[in-house]
Amino acid sequence: MTLTVDQDIILKKINKISSHQELEKLRLEYLGKKGLIPQEMKLLSTLSIDEKKIKGQELNLLKQSIENAVKNQKSHIENTEINKRIQNEKIDVTLSPNLSNQGSIHPITQSIFNIINIFGNLNFSVESGPDIETDFNNFTALNIPAHHPAREMQDTFYIENKEGEKHVLRTHTSPVQVRTMIEKKPPIRIIVPGRTYRSDSDITHTPMFHQVEGLVVDEKSTMVDLKSTLVEFLKTYFEIENLKYRFRPSYFPFTEPSAEMDVAYTKKDNVIKIGEGDEWLEILGCGMVNPKVLENCKIDSTKYQGFAFGMGIERLSMLKYGIPDLRSFFELNYKWLEHYGFSVFDINSKSDI
Ligand code: DAH
Repeated sequence: MTLTVDQDIILKKINKISSHQELEKLRLEYLGKKGLIPQEMKLLSTLSIDEKKIKGQELNLLKQSIENAVKNQKSHIENTEINKRIQNEKIDVTLSPNLSNQGSIHPITQSIFNIINIFGNLNFSVESGPDIETDFNNFTALNIPAHHPAREMQDTFYIENKEGEKHVLRTHTSPVQVRTMIEKKPPIRIIVPGRTYRSDSDITHTPMFHQVEGLVVDEKSTMVDLKSTLVEFLKTYFEIENLKYRFRPSYFPFTEPSAEMDVAYTKKDNVIKIGEGDEWLEILGCGMVNPKVLENCKIDSTKYQGFAFGMGIERLSMLKYGIPDLRSFFELNYKWLEHYGFSVFDINSKSDI
């Protein structure tokens, strides 16, 4: 019996195969039940014992080398397939990102950046305090004692802790005046941007809103300094050289005398233009720090004096960016943010941080 299979030819054939189906076909052709090798094996019984031994060994070696070659070729085909997939599925990191539904800087945040920057240039530093305040800091120290009607001016959210102590969600940023005066000695020159809370909700009020407080305490600051500071701030914030404004006498328990500042505006086609015209818009409250407040904070009122002011950041933002509805600030509407929001790249403009 001569072997009808030539090892070299068959191994070459296997090495050329590039698909799993073809390889399987060849495997069955040689090694399958009815394949060539098993058939040759069957023929062994017709041989003499010596021949059977030699041919048997030859056939086994051949079978093994075909099996190995098929196995190697199989992993070769698999590797080629994987490499091809890696090539095709490569992620192109140079592709631009999906720009739909992108977040941007909220107008309130943008206003806070602007405010900090403007007052920073006027030598003010930034202070902050907690949203949950003591009754003392929010009211009593600011010359608003229990049962004082001014407490009713502000619809307060009261909170009681485990010990039954009354706390409040701060109704204004003014308690940070108290915190700062108790902690630091004059000269003090700070602003306090932050969240404030009142139980009030309609087209011009939301239960949470933002204020910025200002406080200056030293030996000689006067009402004139207060006025020039506020005028300088508003001119820069609204980017208006000739701002028409007025100060009206007012009442706040923590300042004496107190005033409110109005800016002039005109309304054309439902668009408000700030700075000129015959209509007046109230924009902030201010005054000279009441000596009683200085004393409540352990500051000698015979030696020190100062001024304070407070304004709503939503209102400033609405006027600057032409946003008509206060509630829209907190509606989490992407379309709205796309329209009024700011790109992170805008932050370099001259009045920004
Ligand atoms: N705290 C006042 C409010 O929420 C605003 C205010 C008015 C703050 C006058 C001041 C000030 O510091 O002097 O209505």
